[in-house]
Amino acid sequence: MDTIRAYAPATVANVCCGFDILGFAMDSPGDEVVLRRTRNDEVFVSAIHGDGGLLPLDPTKNTASVAVRAFQEATGLRFGVSIELYKNLPLGSGMGSSAASAAAAVVAINALAGSPLSRHELVPFAMEAERVACGSAHADNVAPSILGGFVLIRDYQPLDVIKLPIDLELYCTLVHPHLEVKTSDSRKILRPVIALKDSITQSGNVAGLITGLFTKDLSLVSRSLKDVIAEPVRSVFIPGYDRIRQMAMECGALGAGISGSGPTMFALSANREVAQQTGARLQQHFSSLDIHSDILVSKINPEGAEVRS
Ligand code: HSE
Repeated sequence: MDTIRAYAPATVANVCCGFDILGFAMDSPGDEVVLRRTRNDEVFVSAIHGDGGLLPLDPTKNTASVAVRAFQEATGLRFGVSIELYKNLPLGSGMGSSAASAAAAVVAINALAGSPLSRHELVPFAMEAERVACGSAHADNVAPSILGGFVLIRDYQPLDVIKLPIDLELYCTLVHPHLEVKTSDSRKILRPVIALKDSITQSGNVAGLITGLFTKDLSLVSRSLKDVIAEPVRSVFIPGYDRIRQMAMECGALGAGISGSGPTMFALSANREVAQQTGARLQQHFSSLDIHSDILVSKINPEGAEVRS
């Protein structure tokens, strides 16, 4: 096989209380890559579609090629590839855009190499791409994009990534206001030290959220979708943040918060109608502030990235 096409979905990182340690995958949208084997060992980006010319073609800077190069180096892969990237996710949106390109690329190169590595083993290569994209090798977008479902990063040193065995039908609403927030910027403003009482609240919510997802206790899920660490600081980027959370609850959503580092807001709901109503309500809110926005409603994607041909 000389050519592989792979898809990797958008992701919601943090899921309110799990800053850098929790994320889940959407069914769609997502990015696609086409990798073609080359005669030498060079890895290069041949074309990017859909980014408006904003992403780097430089293989040391593009997240797809960085992830492929990390894979190539670690496995001693003897061939190179050209990478064609179909960028469907908006940049700087908080929907795991840089992660999806990297996730699709590592899944594709692994398939092209005859699948020497497991999905879990691919995560560190995509994390290298995150380091290049925003200065931090967080895994809460790349891991769910590669593995699907809800993923917990129990630890980073050493890396311990756990795909959570959750059997609960949930719908995610994403409302993407047309404002750009760079992950690197929204990480810089975070406080380096947190108060003990906030750590206690946050730990309780993470444990509550995961327990609620396991036991299908929607009220517990709802009570646990709160962040006292990152969102209070980052909410300055999102006009009407508190009202948005309240509106989502009024529509019947289980909870809402900032998707990853924002500015996209996400809400989780138990059914599609509520998820759609929530999207419409939040879009109305942004329109009233003269901010255009897109709504996406999707189930949780259980499988993550996929090889398409
Ligand atoms: N956990 C990361 C952050 C996700 O919140 O900065 C970035 O999408």
